[in-house]
Amino acid sequence: MKLLVTGAAGFIGSHVAEKLLKRGDAVIGLDNFNDYYDPAKKRANAARLAAYPNFSMVEDDIRHRQAMFNLFEQEKFEAVAHLAAMAGVRNAMKYPDLYVEVDLNGSQHLMDAARAHHTGNFVQASTSSVYGHTTQIPFVETDPCDRPLQPYAAAKRAAEILAYSYHYLFNQNITVVRFFSVYGPHGRPDMMAYLVAESVAKGIEIPLYDNGQMWRDWTYVDDISDGVVAAVDRPLGYEIINLGRGEPTLLADFVRYIEEMAGRKANVVPKPRLAPDFVKNHADISKARRLLAYNPQISVQEGVARFWEWYTAANPL
Ligand SMILES: NC(=O)c1ccc[n+]([C@@H]2O[C@H](COP(=O)([O-])OP(=O)(O)OC[C@H]3O[C@@H](n4cnc5c(N)ncnc54)[C@H](O)[C@@H]3O)[C@@H](O)[C@H]2O)c1
Repeated sequence: MKLLVTGAAGFIGSHVAEKLLKRGDAVIGLDNFNDYYDPAKKRANAARLAAYPNFSMVEDDIRHRQAMFNLFEQEKFEAVAHLAAMAGVRNAMKYPDLYVEVDLNGSQHLMDAARAHHTGNFVQASTSSVYGHTTQIPFVETDPCDRPLQPYAAAKRAAEILAYSYHYLFNQNITVVRFFSVYGPHGRPDMMAYLVAESVAKGIEIPLYDNGQMWRDWTYVDDISDGVVAAVDRPLGYEIINLGRGEPTLLADFVRYIEEMAGRKANVVPKPRLAPDFVKNHADISKARRLLAYNPQISVQEGVARFWEWYTAANPL
């Protein structure tokens, strides 16, 4: 199969692309290598993928509508895994325009190009943040999700809804996958797992909101990329599907697991919970099990051990 993976130089996109490459698919990666975090990490991810002869990388921006149409015209993709986005909840509060331009308008360009070029299946990455302060726990896909707490979640939710219009009008297959707190090798340096690793390794101060009394459904990146590949392989009309682990862990315990692995303490600075933080995220993954044969394998303790092994190999202590 010939696929487009957007955000292929990023954390999850590089794992998804590598899984597809390993099984022999032809993958075109697309990324703009922006500096939301150190672009050298994205270049390293792209170099990892470039080792596969069935991979090529396009450096461009999903905000460039014509460039996206030209790319689809030229390459005739059979499927798209759309993972490119401005992620990061706190950054979205500072730059809401950027989040709407990339996460909503950029996604629209891709859906439209896929419509024009009859791309078979389109998988759209979304986020558990769309659930906001819902009281339906575990989070289930039938929740209306109409009270997003910040512009990142709002733009992602808007893109999910727009995808329905594309499906309804043009019969496109679009599966929205909502990820829950993803961590693992090549992880984003602004996310908790990486921050804690940096703190235990280098003594860097990190904020710990609400004394770590927040539950997160940490999901190891291999389980997530398995779910994305399963979605790529199954045209389902229009579906929204949670991809999490289904077993939330207290943030304080997650930090402690990394500290135990490292044999040292993180340098945490207690901070009050911020407005966009929810107390608990917890995925109901029964729909993913049913429709995608999704079956997450990696416990949080095992995932943290694997993450720490990668971190220390990449950053010798
Ligand atoms: N990491 C998580 O826990 C998590 C949770 C929920 C949802 N998600 C979603 O998963 C996807 C991947 O996230 P990630 O954690 O790997 O983040 P990431 O920042 O590592 O990857 C996103 C990639 O998209 C690229 N990108 C951003 N704007 C672009 C643009 N305008 N044009 C082209 N490329 C652009 C970035 O350069 C980056 O390489 C995103 O859609 C994100 O919203 C991630």
